[in-house]
Amino acid sequence: MTEWTGQADWAREAWGSIVNKVARTSKRIGDGFPHASVNGQYKLEPASWWTAGFWPGLLWLIYRDTKDESLRLLAESCERQLDQVIMDYYKLDHDIGFMWTLTSVARYKLLGADDSKRRALLAANLLAARFNVQGGYIRAWNPWREGERNEGWAIIDCMMNLPLLHWAAKTTGDPRYKHIAVRHADTVLEHFIRPDGSVNHIVIFDPETGEKVGVNGGQGYAPESAWSRGTAWALYGMSLSHMHTGSEAYLNAAKRVAHFFIANLPEDHVPHWDFRLPEDVPAYRDSSAGACAACGLLLLADQVGGREAALYRRAGENILHSLYANYGAWETEAEEGLILHGTSHFPEQKNIDVPLIYGDYYFAEGIARLNGSRELFW
Ligand code: GLY
Repeated sequence: MTEWTGQADWAREAWGSIVNKVARTSKRIGDGFPHASVNGQYKLEPASWWTAGFWPGLLWLIYRDTKDESLRLLAESCERQLDQVIMDYYKLDHDIGFMWTLTSVARYKLLGADDSKRRALLAANLLAARFNVQGGYIRAWNPWREGERNEGWAIIDCMMNLPLLHWAAKTTGDPRYKHIAVRHADTVLEHFIRPDGSVNHIVIFDPETGEKVGVNGGQGYAPESAWSRGTAWALYGMSLSHMHTGSEAYLNAAKRVAHFFIANLPEDHVPHWDFRLPEDVPAYRDSSAGACAACGLLLLADQVGGREAALYRRAGENILHSLYANYGAWETEAEEGLILHGTSHFPEQKNIDVPLIYGDYYFAEGIARLNGSRELFW
């Protein structure tokens, strides 16, 4: 088996395909907020939707390499539009992390912009304010409908929101943000990650006592199944928590989840939307889970040594290569998505077997890393 060196032609070619395609699609998408591509065109969502950071994040990834000013202007316009929603308590949830990490933190890291720093710190404060001290978890959502009580709900996706808190701790020198991120990650170790490396999507706590009271299948097939994107959130999120804290417990958790993820991949290395589906349930792929997990695997490879590093790097490379070669929509003008066959929410029958903007973002982040760009916005 050949060791991945980061220099292979296909990864350079893939980056070129991404840059060319986004140059084209950015003419129509502009400073909008795409989520899922339906019939070849990205449907635009309000700025308050949780996916609002991924398109500007993708633009920043490309700007970092090409310095294309037209992409910078679009990403900055997206960021300014988020100013409207930061005041809207009811519309924002814990995905503040995704939203402001890939807009304001990205711009601050790339350009040192002071207004972006202020925005990201405000967002970090809102995220920190969702922490339940008694239960040691960050509350996921506000009520989706009148009368819903979800003060005790925490979800695995939040692992990817924690980097905003670590960034705020480092930027201000105030460790409170880090303490919250660590307490939440410790709760995930205790209550979300199962002994076999699979994960729960939703864990429900009593918001008064902090006791765990149950689990919910959420976007997975069932409470005891294994939603693949949730597994990817855990894998990458734990690797990032290790990167920010140096904690061996997070590194070991990332490895455990990685082993479960890799062991359950089909032959083309791109996961089905849930790893534990009964025969009679359609096994659509979720390319976004593959793309996110690949980024986690590449980071993990850099956090360990020797044969382990080669195993994780090879697994991440295999996923990205398959996404490029078998799932990429490079030749057609009739599709705005970069990679096909994502599944957003099978239980609610939403956005099934379509390109998803977070799949595109993580695919581009992973390919950029293979080409030598190691600085992360997370
Ligand atoms: N954070 C929601 C999702 O992964 O679809």
